[in-house]
Amino acid sequence: MKIVTVIGARPQFIKALPVSRALQVAGVDEFLVHTGQHYDQNMSGIFFDQLGLPKPRINLEVGSGSHGAQTAKMLERIEAILLREKPDWILVYGDTNSTIAGALAAVKLHLPVAHVEAGLRSFNRRMPEEHNRVLTDHCSDLLLCPTATAVENLRREGVTKNVHLVGDVMLDALLMFSEAAARQPTVAEIDADERAYYLATVHRAENTDDPSRLRSILAALERLPLPVFVPLHPRTRKILKDLPPGTFDSRCIRIIEPLGYVDMISAVLRSRAVLTDSGGLQKEAVWLGIPCITLRDETEWVETLQDGFNQVVGASSTRIIEACARLPQTREPQRVGAGAATQCANLLVAR
Ligand code: UD1
Repeated sequence: MKIVTVIGARPQFIKALPVSRALQVAGVDEFLVHTGQHYDQNMSGIFFDQLGLPKPRINLEVGSGSHGAQTAKMLERIEAILLREKPDWILVYGDTNSTIAGALAAVKLHLPVAHVEAGLRSFNRRMPEEHNRVLTDHCSDLLLCPTATAVENLRREGVTKNVHLVGDVMLDALLMFSEAAARQPTVAEIDADERAYYLATVHRAENTDDPSRLRSILAALERLPLPVFVPLHPRTRKILKDLPPGTFDSRCIRIIEPLGYVDMISAVLRSRAVLTDSGGLQKEAVWLGIPCITLRDETEWVETLQDGFNQVVGASSTRIIEACARLPQTREPQRVGAGAATQCANLLVAR
């Protein structure tokens, strides 16, 4: 069996890791295509160098651009590969422009699509990711859902065939590396004691491209009682560079380079709390037993909200500061997963 897997953005390298391994065990010939959506060494190369994910057989090098231009370039180049390789499946992950491009190129050629992380919804149609999710799900032939909520979301949209609850492949990835991360020291840039800092990430368009939301988040972070380390996505870095000097206090908000996967887990594990607008990091914090504050108005990962362990507060300074004042205690990390990657591989091979 031959599968063409399309990945391109940082979280997809992590999701693909356990699934690629499971496919290898199952004897599948996986042809890994990197769209080139992410291309900096610390947004892409580092994940292949450090995690043992097979190197992509091809990199389409689409780079950055407007949504239309970026997706169109991917679509054209993926189509050429699919015509040549004639795979049994096209496998896509998550909700990025690389996801929708892979799915769309495949269905136009009548090739079957499998979607890992199917069924997630924020119900916020202003998010580019929400369109990518809905459109990919509605043209997929195998829908691999991480949560029961995702299965229910699909059912409400009339998608019930070939829907499987497999669990979360990001948990599989985390369990592969969390013990190593606990053993290794935190990166030198985080020069604070264990539980004496917060870890924050901000990269969502809804926060970075809205100056009032970004300012409000920064105003909150600099007023927190502990320093905040921010491994910064290049999108946000470019925006912050254009702000007038003194917009935020760099003694409180400590900008550092984006971290590799194991360094990031290690940094989360020792933090007092995580503040983020990322989807994956919300789950990783909760699985690692670290309280999370979500800098968005909603979350797709409603399971993380139990017991107030993840608090969704948006970009309001007051709400961010209040949430930090009522953080739950850290707790033991989760140590077992559902074997989601193996289930994905088995379902692909079975059809
Ligand atoms: C994309 C996904 C988002 C995901 C995120 C993970 C879409 C619509 N969004 O957002 O769902 O959470 O990846 O990180 O697909 N840039 C660099 N170097 C890089 C990559 C990006 O400098 O290696 C800069 C460029 O200025 C680029 C900007 O970041 O224009 C945005 O990159 P892009 O891939 O368009 O979207 P992300 O914000 O990364």
